[in-house]
Amino acid sequence: MQIDVFTLFPHWFDWFRGQRHVANALALGSALECVDYRAHTPLSAGQVDDTPFGGGAGMVLRVDVVEAALRARYGEDPVALRERRRVIALTPGGRLLDDALVSELAAADELTLLCGRYEGFDERILDHFCSGQLSIGRYVISGGELAAMVVCDAVLRKLPGALGSNISATEESFSTALDGAPEYPHYTRPAAWRGWAVPEVLLSGHHARIREWRAQQSRARARQSGGASLP
Ligand code: ADE
Repeated sequence: MQIDVFTLFPHWFDWFRGQRHVANALALGSALECVDYRAHTPLSAGQVDDTPFGGGAGMVLRVDVVEAALRARYGEDPVALRERRRVIALTPGGRLLDDALVSELAAADELTLLCGRYEGFDERILDHFCSGQLSIGRYVISGGELAAMVVCDAVLRKLPGALGSNISATEESFSTALDGAPEYPHYTRPAAWRGWAVPEVLLSGHHARIREWRAQQSRARARQSGGASLP
């Protein structure tokens, strides 16, 4: 899979590329490359953003700058590009990332992620260059870079070999293998600690019962819904 991330902070991704499963995916033929908006800006002094028309706080990423960066990378009009390649902007109001969307993205050969900063994107970037918008949650972070890393992490770990074992990503939280439910609890040695025992069934060696117990735990967690364990 080839992922391009457009950003003002390409060096942030150096650390990310070194993380085990990301490095595995890259070693197996995937690519994660960054394009620096500033390196392609047609404006002087590396300008990439501007004040919003109509006034207001913050700066807005310029449409001409993003167009120049996309043209430099792909050699075509970004309006046409989005017809043949997924070009996704990271925005707080975009489609919420979930396991189904991650699987959908992981099935594609190519993906382009656009990171915004400051007040975000000039709306024409979203309207004309992007095939979609994606959000990692209904809160605002300072830019799209961390959100892009979340997307890349979730997508790359789905690729065969990224986790070192092909089965590791199939039966985990929210996967179809668990009917979209959270994963069941895990335990390891010691079997008893401060009187906290591991559920007997897991020590039984009875695989069918273990499978049933895990499925039932997973369903129970789904019923509890997201925030149950928060204070
Ligand atoms: N940019 C700023 N906040 C974001 C969020 N929650 N998801 C995706 N991109 C963002």
